[in-house]
Parts: sequence; structure tokens; C-alpha cells
Amino acid sequence: MRFFDIHPVNLVKALSMALELSINGMSRHHWQTAMICKKIADQISMNATEQRTLVFAALLHDIGAASSWDERQKIQQTDTFEKRSLGAHAEAGYLLLKDSPQLGYLAQSIRYHHDYWCGGNKSGLKGSQIPLVSRIIHLADRVQILIHHNQSIFAQREKILESIDRSSGIVFDPLLVKAAHEIMQAESFWLDLVNASYYENFFKTLDVYGSVRYSSDDAIQIANIFAKIIDKISKFTAHHSRSVTKTAVFLAKLEGFSEDDVKSMEIAGLLHDLGKLAVPNAILEKPGKLTAEEVVIVRQHTYYTYRILEQIDHFEVIAQWAAYHHETLDGQGYPFRIGGKDLSLGSRILAVADIFVALTETRPYRESLPKQKVQDIMTNMVKQNKIDGNVLKTLFDHYDDAVLLVDTRLAVKENERFA
Ligand SMILES: [Fe+2]
Ligand SMILES: [Fe+2]
Ligand SMILES: [Fe+2]
Repeated sequence: MRFFDIHPVNLVKALSMALELSINGMSRHHWQTAMICKKIADQISMNATEQRTLVFAALLHDIGAASSWDERQKIQQTDTFEKRSLGAHAEAGYLLLKDSPQLGYLAQSIRYHHDYWCGGNKSGLKGSQIPLVSRIIHLADRVQILIHHNQSIFAQREKILESIDRSSGIVFDPLLVKAAHEIMQAESFWLDLVNASYYENFFKTLDVYGSVRYSSDDAIQIANIFAKIIDKISKFTAHHSRSVTKTAVFLAKLEGFSEDDVKSMEIAGLLHDLGKLAVPNAILEKPGKLTAEEVVIVRQHTYYTYRILEQIDHFEVIAQWAAYHHETLDGQGYPFRIGGKDLSLGSRILAVADIFVALTETRPYRESLPKQKVQDIMTNMVKQNKIDGNVLKTLFDHYDDAVLLVDTRLAVKENERFA
């Protein structure tokens, strides 16, 4: 069994990046919220174990909204500050994480991160019944969304302080508001928040949380959570990551990969489209042809898959297998334009699996393509020096078994999608 010695902070930081992707790069909602949480925790002398839970939960707190751009926008708007309608994604985040052996300990804190101090919450909790970690995330989260990034931070300081004061004892725990008030007097509090280059130092300070040993099975379980999130982005490809994974694992075994490498392929398959979180649902679900501008936006997904996965300790090979699935042997693929000589067998397998699944999945505008058609299209791609002919031969030699691995059910129903 392969083990990865992972600094959990690197893992959670990388996963939180996936929640921050947008058309124009990354926002820093989770990172800033985590930094505010850490400063409040220091101020109230929270112990190290609780701090660790707090910071990691803060880094993933809106995971329940990640699949939906509308939801992500809604929860980050300043005018929702005093509305009580934000709980759905907190519950969704809880449901995503609660059964995870690795991240399940964060689920409760995420579940209550929009609960009001004064009560009236769906959870039935109020005041100090609400977990302290959730209360801190709630306050830090709302401070973060009040920051306008195109204005001087000091011109906003008073307004932000007034807002949280007004909500003290109603929305927020008054003792936490008091603690926040004290730390917010320091100029450095605000400067750290808006100083993009400070984040690396901030994450380094979290190295004290040490490293953990994750087996490949642990990593597969975490990857499965993210595959669920990715597949929810578009109702038209609701099973795509999991079908690609099954096909890629099937091919890796046939190509003689070791048991450990087959598991790495499983992780790579589950996460290959992680960067799709940078593509708005509306583009992924557009019924007609995409404009040139939209194509560029869609194509950035594998770039982000790579940049996220490369940050996780010992994930170098997995990052390449996962993120090179739109690279081609002739060097005309994207986003790195890597030619055949640098495309390993693992990357070639995942590329073939991805295309095969895309062609055999049912789409709203067409049925699953028949065998002959799939073979014609993919054989043509070999002729054009796009994909690997040997891998394709392996697939075609086992076509009837492979096609059973693809979930051809069309889409989930809209009402089930974000349930
Ligand atoms: Fe939230
Ligand atoms: Fe948030
Ligand atoms: Fe892709």
C-alpha cells in the first residue's frame, strides 16, 4: 500500500483553492476567512487542537456551495449580511463531509457556520450551544464579505466595525465581537488581509499542525468527495468523473500498472476535472455552440487541476496524469502544449478514457454514440497524432466490457442536483 506523508495544511489549502476558482483566477474568500479566524483564535487563547479544526473548517466552510455559481455569488454578496437565507450550503457542506474518515471532524463546525447567536435557527441551537468554531467562522466570514477589494482597506475599517457591532448579540457572539474589535485596532490586521504575498507566510505558520500519513485509500476517499462536487457542476455530466475513473482504472490494469499505480490512477481520474469549478455552470450547460471566449474559459480547467494538485505532497505524478487529459501527442493540446515525448502512459490512458466516456455518455442533444461511431472518431484521432494508438487498441480489444463502466443515465433531475 502506498502512503503519502501529507501536511494536512497543504492538502486543505489546495482543496480550498478549488472552491475559489472563478473566470479570472482565484478569489480568496476562504483564505481570508481562515486568517481572520486564526487571529480571533489567538486573541481568545484557543488551544492548538481547536485552532486546527477552526482553520481547516474555515478553509473549506463553503464547500457545500462549490458546485453552484449562483449559490457562490449569493453567499458572498454584502447585502445578504443580515439575511437568514444562507443555511442551505452549510447543511450541504455538512452532508458532503460527515461520513469522511479524514475530514468528517470538520462537518459539524461547517454545518452551523450561519447560525445566529440569538437563535431561531433550523438547528434549534442558540448562544453557546452553537459550536465555538462555527461562531468564529460565522463572524470571520461576514467580515470578509464586507471587504471591497477595490477600495482602501482603511477607508472601510469603521464601516465594517459598525456592521459587526450592530449585529453583536443577534447574529454574532458578543464576546467574539469584542475580541475581533480588539484585534481590528491593529493596522497589521487589515494589511495582512489584503497583502497577497503574506498568505504563504500565513500557511507556513500552520506547519505546526504537523503531517499525517494518508494511504492511497484515504486519498481516494477524499478525491471522491471532490468528484461529487465536480460532477454536480453540470447536470449533463452528472456521472462523468466517476465513469472516467472506472475506465482509466480498467485500462491501467490492462496495461500492467502496479496495484499502487492503479490507485493513483483512481485518484487522478476522480480529480481530472477539478478545475471545472472555474467554469460557470451556464457555460458548461449552454445548449448551443460556445463562443471563442467561452471556449477559452472552459479550457482553463486543466490548468487549475494541475496548479491545485501539484501543491499536495507527493501528488506530482497524479497531478500530471489528471491534468494532461487534453494534451495531445502532436503538442497542440492544452493548456501546456506538451508533446508526445513528455506524455507518460498514465496521462495517455486518462486522455483516452476521458474521450471514450464523453462519446459514450448520453447528452441532452444526443444519445450515447454507437460502437462503430466511437471507433471511427477515436481511430481518426490516432491518425492525427492526438491520442495513443496502443492504449486505444487495448480499449477496443475490451470494448464491450469498457462500455459497461460508463454511466449513461442522462443527468440528474434539477431538484435532486443541489439537494
Ligand atoms: Fe457560508
Ligand atoms: Fe463563506
Ligand atoms: Fe476535461
